[in-house]
Amino acid sequence: MCGIVGYIGKRPVLPVLLGGLEKLEYRGYDSAGVSEIVNAQFEVMRAEGKLAKLKNLLSENGKLAAGENKSAEGVNIGIGHTRWATHGRPSETNAHPHLAGKVCLVHNGIIENYVELKAQLTATKCVFKSETDSEIAAHLINSHIEQGLGLFAATKTACSEMQGSYALVVMSLSEPDKLVVAKNATPVIVGITPDESFIASDIPAILEYTRDFYVLEDGDFAEISRGAIKIEHEGVAAERKPITIAWDPITAEKGGFEHFMLKEIHEQPRVVMETLRGRLDQEHSNVHFDDVFFSDDDFAKIERIVIVACGTAWHAALTTKFYIEKFARMPVDVDYASEFRYRNPLLNDKTLFIAISQSGETADTLGALQIAIEKGAKTLAICNVVGSTIARRAGNIINTQAGPEISVASTKAFVTQLVAGYLLALKLALVRNTLSADELANYIDQVVHLPKWLTAALGQEDKIKDLAQEFSKSFNFLYLARGLLYPIALEGALKLKEISYIHAEGYPAGEMKHGPIALITEETPVVVVLGHDDGNYEKAMSNLTEAVARKAKIIAVTDLENAHLSKLAHRVIAVGDIPSQMLPIVLVIPLQLLAYYTAICRETDVDQPRNLAKSVTVE
Ligand code: F6R
Repeated sequence: MCGIVGYIGKRPVLPVLLGGLEKLEYRGYDSAGVSEIVNAQFEVMRAEGKLAKLKNLLSENGKLAAGENKSAEGVNIGIGHTRWATHGRPSETNAHPHLAGKVCLVHNGIIENYVELKAQLTATKCVFKSETDSEIAAHLINSHIEQGLGLFAATKTACSEMQGSYALVVMSLSEPDKLVVAKNATPVIVGITPDESFIASDIPAILEYTRDFYVLEDGDFAEISRGAIKIEHEGVAAERKPITIAWDPITAEKGGFEHFMLKEIHEQPRVVMETLRGRLDQEHSNVHFDDVFFSDDDFAKIERIVIVACGTAWHAALTTKFYIEKFARMPVDVDYASEFRYRNPLLNDKTLFIAISQSGETADTLGALQIAIEKGAKTLAICNVVGSTIARRAGNIINTQAGPEISVASTKAFVTQLVAGYLLALKLALVRNTLSADELANYIDQVVHLPKWLTAALGQEDKIKDLAQEFSKSFNFLYLARGLLYPIALEGALKLKEISYIHAEGYPAGEMKHGPIALITEETPVVVVLGHDDGNYEKAMSNLTEAVARKAKIIAVTDLENAHLSKLAHRVIAVGDIPSQMLPIVLVIPLQLLAYYTAICRETDVDQPRNLAKSVTVE
């Protein structure tokens, strides 16, 4: 979690660092800090709270106007950090950068043996100012510099003593024209232009300066100077090619919307088109994935599928299971990555293991993937970030093409994960011959029309705004659905609690009577997601009626409205006649909008909700 940036070049440092941190704030936002070398000294400024506080502080101190802060001839150098607290509460002292003697650093990750290291360092008279594990790294590196090592060697030695995860960017007064980066299990990328160097946790932070990035691997150490990078892996120089990202920097801006979340909700028809682009062959009823290297024969040999993910991506996994079972008639298990990885799961070379992850950096999903690789399963990632660790490690990737998702609550990435899952299910059906030619052609044709149905769903926005106004003071919401729509009920509930802080539960509608029904009063809005032709309509209607009998206020989210439904439901959001397979992808939009506008009514911080972070790189 946490976002880190570094810069070496000719520009004033602080605007580059602050601009980068702003784009990384989604990774953590409980405190922030920057440090640069000015007149052979570190100048550090940190503040508890969001980045805006740090900016105000810097501006009050006249730091943003200066710009004349060269540490060596022609070289401006600095590092910055936005924090999501793990060790030590959010405070100015616990904020990064951390200092020790000649060393100043920022850290993203967790140093697991910090208690032991702290005891050793304290015995050598190191004085700690913060409660963080990260400060240990600064003292360790400084102690090695004091023993005569250069910055690069001192960082390597310190890392060999630390256990855990880290992306470290280290600056030293003894070598003021260099930054040293160390990476283990936490992402970090480097952008090099002819006379500048940029370091960041994620691409959008430095996208306005370059589109070519070195993606560091676990175990890499990089020595970065102005316009140059040297990477070492396991003691030997590593030749790496930069990857080129097609995203346009504007895609990572708000584009006139009040929040990134709203912008990203509205981008869904377009990003779904991107996800489909080049993958469908309607003429021959076929599906292609450029970066999936299994032959049809490999696909045909798969006996079982295991899909692993966290949070919203787990809901996409569950929907994908339903698609695969329906189209390809294969057994699919879905698991939370944090559960899967710690129970010696059953996998073999006839298992296809799929990791779904927007960021491609989620620690638990990565841990689960590692186990699948070790057990010889075939591995595939459905992932939004091409150069991410999960994408690279899985070897086979369906890139979801959602573009950078900045809002912490996932929307467009989720919808593209559903589309990727749908396409994969069709591909499996194709090689296993489980659908007739007509069925296959029909299912392919349906997904081609998806963008227009998503646009129709967005057309319900004003109605949903009113609905949010009406229910924004509720204490509890229940979300119910059956079959293919059940994961969407879970996702609707998760979205609402994440950003509006209202308690919400998603349930299979048939389970309601086994417990959750006790929660229902006339104060409880019950969102029922249902489709008129999905084989579950009558049953879902019965469950809805049971809730009405307990005086619940029903918000029905559906494709087609009818008189019976209008009579029972307090409000109906109907998006039009849409094939039932497409409904999960379309009906999640009203639920995203309901969460968004409820959060607006409650004046929460929509893009950066409390306690959350976008990229969960700790277990
Ligand atoms: C919720 C949300 C999270 C993520 C989860 C996995 O809106 O975004 O639940 O889905 O943390 O993250 P990724 O997909 O990056 O692995």
